Amino acid sequence: MRNDIDTILYEAETIRERIKVMAKEIEKDYRGETVVMICILRGASVFFCDLVRELGDLDLDVRFEFMCVSSYGSGTTSSGEVRIVKDINTPLADRHVIVVEDIIDSGNTLSYLKRLLAQRNPKSLRICALLDKPSRRKVELEGDYIGFTVEDKFLVGYGLDYAEKYRNLKYIGVLKPEIYQ
Ligand code: PRP
Repeated sequence: MRNDIDTILYEAETIRERIKVMAKEIEKDYRGETVVMICILRGASVFFCDLVRELGDLDLDVRFEFMCVSSYGSGTTSSGEVRIVKDINTPLADRHVIVVEDIIDSGNTLSYLKRLLAQRNPKSLRICALLDKPSRRKVELEGDYIGFTVEDKFLVGYGLDYAEKYRNLKYIGVLKPEIYQ
């Protein structure tokens, strides 16, 4: 699979160090509180697992929830349509909620999710994304905790896929254009 990667953007160690800092930022805001962290499958799965374990060393009561949302199908461009493939069935009323994503691209997925989850009356609702591609934004949407702000390149690894491949790479790399063109 390494042959399909043009350049490595973030090595595993760089990601690990950044997540430690993000975990401390989250702890500063919610110290001593219970926080429901919602992992948005499938892309956020790897990031989520590492982030919640970093939080395990800090003073925070973390609860896990998983939602599966799809907006891209197997293509490379967003259809703009967001589909809830799997919802959560835990009430969010009066709970602190953090939605965990791998990447904010057009912003369609998170803007839809934010609206949907806000209707469930959480005490607070924030967004944590490992990557942010602001140049691709189609709707106004800002993350509250962002790992890295990235340029508009086709990234794979550490949860991010192309046609369901490359999610299990330990690093985040730029995919060679000949693979997806
Ligand atoms: C990706 C990613 C985000 C979304 C971001 O999910 O995980 O959920 O796209 O793009 P947006 O800001 O343009 O909405 P995808 O639909 O590819 O599914 P996946 O998580 O299974 O990879």
